[in-house]
Amino acid sequence: MKKFNRRIHKTMGSLPPQLFKYFDMADIKAATDEFNACITSIANEFHSKLEYFSYDSNIKLSASKLFGQPVKLQYVASGSVGSVYKLKIGNETFALKINRSSAFGEMDVMPLQKRAKNLLNHAYISSVFEHNGRKYSWVISDYVANDSARSFEDAMIKLYFAYLTKGIIVRDTHPGNIKDGKIIDIPSFDIRDGAIDDIKQLNLRQIDIVKKLVNFIKTDNIDAFQKLVNRVKVSDPIIIQYMFFAMKFGRAPALSLNAKEFFAKIKRYESVINAAKKDLNVQHMLKSNAR
Ligand SMILES: Nc1ncnc2c1ncn2[C@@H]1O[C@H](COP(=O)(O)OP(=O)(O)O)[C@@H](O)[C@H]1O
Ligand SMILES: [Mg+2]
Repeated sequence: MKKFNRRIHKTMGSLPPQLFKYFDMADIKAATDEFNACITSIANEFHSKLEYFSYDSNIKLSASKLFGQPVKLQYVASGSVGSVYKLKIGNETFALKINRSSAFGEMDVMPLQKRAKNLLNHAYISSVFEHNGRKYSWVISDYVANDSARSFEDAMIKLYFAYLTKGIIVRDTHPGNIKDGKIIDIPSFDIRDGAIDDIKQLNLRQIDIVKKLVNFIKTDNIDAFQKLVNRVKVSDPIIIQYMFFAMKFGRAPALSLNAKEFFAKIKRYESVINAAKKDLNVQHMLKSNAR
């Protein structure tokens, strides 16, 4: 974990606003400290019981009061890194994820999450705690109670558009990490950087044009798309090249399988871009990368 040392002593984020009604806002610092102490003690209790039980689901956690409100904890599920509990404070419900291994992915990703609001489940606050000399982290996010039949497909479509306009990728897109069309296991989320980041080779005006093109795909307006492509082909051919690769790589096999109907529709837009790219003589406008 290369960012480990930089962030290790910090709490990331802030208290969920749903809880503001339970304490005096003038004392938000004291409230945050009380909150962190309470959750850290729950996380420590989890880890001390972890040594005696083989299944995380057997671990029942007791909770003290928080802001004078009753606290209830109910085991939900475990992933490869953490165990998730439904956490009820007064009338407000959240998801509490306690990492079993020294993982700090949530803390790395939280500062970036506002760039992908409609794709990611909201994580509010995360902190590091120590157990038996090792460091772990916990995170509080929205509890996603419901799921939809189109959950996975919806997420894949959102992800495709986020890739095109922002270079956002999600490495671990299995259905267990997605609920109600949102990524709930946020550490797998990333914004491409370095040599493979094509979008950063466009300037802001060009990114705005990409967003316009993407919006024509979203609203299924092929005529407007074609018109804009014709214009851009002359004024900013790099955009055509960008769209060519982004549409190709934003559509990983897993995505297209799970949103077949959607990607069948996208094919018409891809053909427009492919035809425009064939007309271009300029090669290698985007710096070559891993492809
Ligand atoms: N915010 C949430 N709301 C409801 N259930 C959740 C939430 N976060 C996680 N879960 C459940 O807990 C499981 C494990 O969480 P996950 O974040 O994927 O852990 P890991 O990083 O260990 O894979 C998920 O598959 C899901 O069933
Ligand atoms: Mg997971």
